Amino acid sequence: MKVSFQSNTTDAVQKGILVLGAFEDNALFARTNELNATTGGQIQRALNASSFKGKKDDVLSIPVPNGLEYAQIVLVGFGKASDATPLSLEEAGAKALAVVARSTQDTLTVDLSDIPLGKEGLARFVSGIEMRSWRFDKYKTKEGDKPKGPENVIVRTGDVDGAALAFNRLHAVVEGNFLTRHVVSEPPNVIYPETMAEQAKELAALGLKVEVLDEAKMKALGMNSLLCVGQGSVRESQLIVIQWDGGTLGNAPVAIVGKGVTFDSGGISIKPSTNMEDMKYDMGGSGVVLGLMKTLALRKAKVNAVGVMGMVENMPSGSAVRPADVVKSMSGQTIEIVNTDAEGRLVLADALWYTQDRFKPQVMIDLATLTGAITVAVGYEFAGLFSNNDRLSDQLTEAGKVVGELLWRFPLTKTFDKDIDSDIADMKNVGSGRGAGSITAAQFLQRFVNNVPWAHLDIAGMAWDKKDRPLSGKGATGFGVRLLDQLIEKNFEK
Ligand code: BES
Ligand code: MN
Ligand code: ZN
Repeated sequence: MKVSFQSNTTDAVQKGILVLGAFEDNALFARTNELNATTGGQIQRALNASSFKGKKDDVLSIPVPNGLEYAQIVLVGFGKASDATPLSLEEAGAKALAVVARSTQDTLTVDLSDIPLGKEGLARFVSGIEMRSWRFDKYKTKEGDKPKGPENVIVRTGDVDGAALAFNRLHAVVEGNFLTRHVVSEPPNVIYPETMAEQAKELAALGLKVEVLDEAKMKALGMNSLLCVGQGSVRESQLIVIQWDGGTLGNAPVAIVGKGVTFDSGGISIKPSTNMEDMKYDMGGSGVVLGLMKTLALRKAKVNAVGVMGMVENMPSGSAVRPADVVKSMSGQTIEIVNTDAEGRLVLADALWYTQDRFKPQVMIDLATLTGAITVAVGYEFAGLFSNNDRLSDQLTEAGKVVGELLWRFPLTKTFDKDIDSDIADMKNVGSGRGAGSITAAQFLQRFVNNVPWAHLDIAGMAWDKKDRPLSGKGATGFGVRLLDQLIEKNFEK
């Protein structure tokens, strides 16, 4: 999608789709009123004949308006101006695009004279359009199966430079989110640890430092917990480290760590075949790390940040790790493997330890599609938040509200800790089946953070959506990129 800004004092080239606005109770924007007159009152008549009330999420499509060359008008409801937030405006833009996502029209013109929150509001609306325009159709070979929707967006405004500047900031986040959605959507025969490493290396062109540790290097570091997960796979495991040094030299970085299981079959504790294909998105946490690092580089964030991605494929085979095996992690702590399907925590155990040990971060946040249990607890509307630090926890929760990526905090206490004590090793990788599976998983991770201010986001219910989400539709959501971008901008820059 190509977005350009144009002065609203010039004549518009009337082509394709025109997006206009109205507030609640059908108080038309000034520009909508003007064009209503041009159409001989057709917009008003269409309104009267419909259930459109100008509420947020109301949209009305009016084909071939009289007296105009546009093929279609999409009238968007903005609710009460006083209720508008950056997020509500993004969602309104996304809603408008959803209506025309399968249109054959190539051009979409946005002409919203009275949009709330000025140029920032307009930029948000347009970034919502962009967010919703993403598709994953590279494996469709028939053109007819690939509806393109509008590719050119022309935004009419009284402040071309101001709106473009505000939009560019948001566009960097959209680009990062798209990269996440892309790698999460790719099948596991295309995205596996080594190809994720290639994706990461491509980001070096943006000024990011990218390093890849192969199995030999990880072995030398003692990362047997991570390595044992990949040992049944023909794919070589990788630890990917991406650094962005946009902050003051010597300032401790913000570290983001991602679970990157490019396919989770469960291993020897193999999963049932129903929905096993979903386990391609078990690298969703690492996908967020990749996308976020791209965003930070694109917008030249004034922060030192490091992204670490633990990449493995979890497969059953003669060389696979067994239930009952004991491994020694990089931290020196030993782990009895009781269930090879509880592999995410094994990957993160070494990735977290390595990250705090090498980078001494001011805070460390991990993202992982860690437990099915988190969807039992909070469904598909919240990610689980687990933290040893109230301040970081509050900052994350607040950032989530701003961008519409909601978090719900769960307890972490010693009482749950007992559940993962092993009879023969320092710990075992699953609880004793007394419920609270997401908490025991987080409690396990906590043993590898060495008291660094840390938060764990269990995104198992949020990385992928089988229904429509406002900004991302169906499929990969990129959940976490907007959240962490907002967290960093608000709390860790300058
Ligand atoms: N990758 C899964 C968790 C998952 C489930 C992610 C559904 C996304 C959607 C994880 O590795 C796993 O298998 N967890 C087990 C843990 C259990 C063995 C203690 C689970 O949730 O059943
Ligand atoms: Mn698993
Ligand atoms: Zn998994």
